[in-house]
Amino acid sequence: MPVHLVVLAAGQGSRMNSDRPKVLHEIGQAPLFVHALAAGAALSPERRILVVGHGAEAVRAAALDEDPDIAVVEQGERRGTAHAVAQARTALAGAQGDVFVLYGDTPFIRPETLSMMAAARAGGASVVVLGFEATVPGRYGRLIVEGDELIRIVEYKDATEAERAITLCNSGVICADAAILFQLVDAVGCDNAAEEYYLTDIVSIARDRGLRCTTVACEEAETMGVNTRQELARAEATFQARRRAEAFDDGVSLTAPETVFFAHDTVIGRDATIEPHVIFGPGVTIESGATIRAFSHLEGAHVGDGAVIGPYARLRPGAEIGGDARIGNFVEIKSAEIGPGAKVNHLSYVGDATVGERANLGAGTVTCNYDGVFKHRTEIGAQAFIGSSTMLVAPVRIGTGAMTGSGSVITQDVPDDALAIARARQSNKEGLARRLMSKLRANKAKRTN
Ligand code: UD1
Ligand code: CA
Repeated sequence: MPVHLVVLAAGQGSRMNSDRPKVLHEIGQAPLFVHALAAGAALSPERRILVVGHGAEAVRAAALDEDPDIAVVEQGERRGTAHAVAQARTALAGAQGDVFVLYGDTPFIRPETLSMMAAARAGGASVVVLGFEATVPGRYGRLIVEGDELIRIVEYKDATEAERAITLCNSGVICADAAILFQLVDAVGCDNAAEEYYLTDIVSIARDRGLRCTTVACEEAETMGVNTRQELARAEATFQARRRAEAFDDGVSLTAPETVFFAHDTVIGRDATIEPHVIFGPGVTIESGATIRAFSHLEGAHVGDGAVIGPYARLRPGAEIGGDARIGNFVEIKSAEIGPGAKVNHLSYVGDATVGERANLGAGTVTCNYDGVFKHRTEIGAQAFIGSSTMLVAPVRIGTGAMTGSGSVITQDVPDDALAIARARQSNKEGLARRLMSKLRANKAKRTN
């Protein structure tokens, strides 16, 4: 059965007190709505629809950037969750199978939970609602059930005292038969305390038409929504805790897990070790057996197996580190391929470059890649040896097995196996240091007298 996702993200999120639409606030360095879509991605959805409203243009741009195939539809006025879903009608025309409705500000629904809902749909229910036992039921909608039948959902504002005593609450996630969802949504009215079109009303409407509705329950933690900055920080902590636990399950060692921060898409192989205070930005893959030493910052980087990064290293987008390579302290790598077994151990900047296997870049090597307007490339051959404090003024090529003398400013290509020295020749002036010093001291004595 095909699956389709509708993610509701039109709400203002006024309690964030922000110029930015709520769903663009980030956890794990990805906007909230991306997390909602990621949970649904496990179901391989055929159509994905994002309903935007508040800050529509910014959310649309971010969504298309994330997923060019997503359909973004705009809800002009916020008239309730059923009205929001109705905006997806054209985008879902002719769709068969299951439609999942998710909230863009609810990032922790697990793929397994959605699969359970799909299974309940396959078991013959036309509408499946995700519920949870709330520790503090507060203002959530309450699920009225009889056995495994869901009879209706009552919103807090419209509930009687007896109904408010119910602790089984509506998470907001709903899965319905694509063929009938919009017929049900069309029948929803707004004769209620909030004068809104409640999506939750489709349950009683479906039952009036002889269709079966049921619930699936999940852990309360999955339903956590983000409404305030404080909740955003709590969601970040929850996200990080989940990712650390997953890393352990994947066979990764974290020496001080609470100090390591993951991005939404960080991938780390088995037997990798991550030392304390490491931060992963988006787009990082670490292969098996690599070690990321303390206080390193990685973003858009790929680290090969057995490589050692840091301590205090910075890998920026486009850093491709070969197997068993070494990137040491205070080294920055950007858009550069570092070959297998190559070493850049101290105080270096390598950008827009290719470094061959087992090349050795001495302390303070700098690729001067930028002329103020254009970026230029540096190529360093396999097993080349770059002397400490060499400035490589790009575009420039250092041949295989070539060397540069320390302190050289290399502006021309160096042939394979050649030694390039590009610095002033040294001359020693006998006794000059002593004579100079006595003169300076004499001057100082004159001044203080
Ligand atoms: C909704 C449910 C309630 C459930 C709760 C869980 C309804 C009527 N009520 O209530 O049963 O317990 O969520 O958190 O569905 N949105 C739009 N357009 C709108 C209105 C809302 O896109 O016109 C989006 C919001 O951005 C948000 C989501 O839908 O992501 C839920 O809206 P919200 O106003 O928070 O619903 P609740 O009143 O909390
Ligand atoms: Ca809400």
